[in-house]
Amino acid sequence: MEAKEAAGIRSRTQRADYQATADPALNEAADRTADIKLLGYGELYDLWERQQWQTQELDFSQDREDWHERIPEEERFQRMYGLSSFFIGEQKVAEELGPIMRAAPTEDQKVFLCTQIADEARHVRFFERFYREVGVLEADGLSEMLTETSSHLNQNFGELFDEMLGSRTERLSQEPEDTEALVEAVTLYHMVIEGMLALTGQHFIMEYNERENTLPGFVEGFGNVARDEHRHVAFGSVFLREKAHEDDRYKAAIQRTLEQALPIADGVFSPPWAEGGDDFELFGYSLGETRQFAATCLMRRLKVIGLG
Ligand SMILES: [Fe+2]
Ligand SMILES: [Fe+2]
Repeated sequence: MEAKEAAGIRSRTQRADYQATADPALNEAADRTADIKLLGYGELYDLWERQQWQTQELDFSQDREDWHERIPEEERFQRMYGLSSFFIGEQKVAEELGPIMRAAPTEDQKVFLCTQIADEARHVRFFERFYREVGVLEADGLSEMLTETSSHLNQNFGELFDEMLGSRTERLSQEPEDTEALVEAVTLYHMVIEGMLALTGQHFIMEYNERENTLPGFVEGFGNVARDEHRHVAFGSVFLREKAHEDDRYKAAIQRTLEQALPIADGVFSPPWAEGGDDFELFGYSLGETRQFAATCLMRRLKVIGLG
């Protein structure tokens, strides 16, 4: 059964639209060599134009039935941890990207990051539509939903997004010329938050829903969100690869940021009510398996950037 589940995740990472992003995590060769071709900023922009989607087209009617009639109350509560982390995470990254975009040194980088701001806004609306059409919460307005769902988060989440990422983007708002702060922000945003946390959560959540045959509208939309995230992480990889080759100071900034962020990011994998350390299981996977997947993806990206 374990092998079958892992194969499910593997077959998803082979999707042609995910592979088109050239995110190094999706390429087994990155276990062995740093010599992997990445897309340039212009190519990433063109891919964005080809990979558009609409939240309005998703049909959540089966999801509504599943949520209220097929998924037991305790499981609904357990699912709220992942859903809330994503919903609030999307809102936070949408808002933090402006200063990063302004601080990017070239126009090609800025234009791509503008597309990413639009994507993050669409991800917020995706969760809002899912919550509203399924009837997940009492609250109706977007701000009220975010407030109500935030009660499910854990402390590490606030530390990572508000303190670590927030302090870097604040610095970039005041000093857009500070390229070292920009390298730190991209390491946190694209490598840790999107690359390690979001994409790992997405692959396991989609896998679980497909296995249980639940929430088909959500899975379809979340698959599109994951495609966008692979494209964003592909930007982070090419940007950090360039910077790491440009100056050892930037290489050290990437390493330093990872050392600070990884223990906190790891804590985000555990819901506030989790017990049992590495053996803690959620939806059929242990924390250890989740960590393993996240670590493999990170190592491949770092190798390609020039740090592995
Ligand atoms: Fe996103
Ligand atoms: Fe993203």
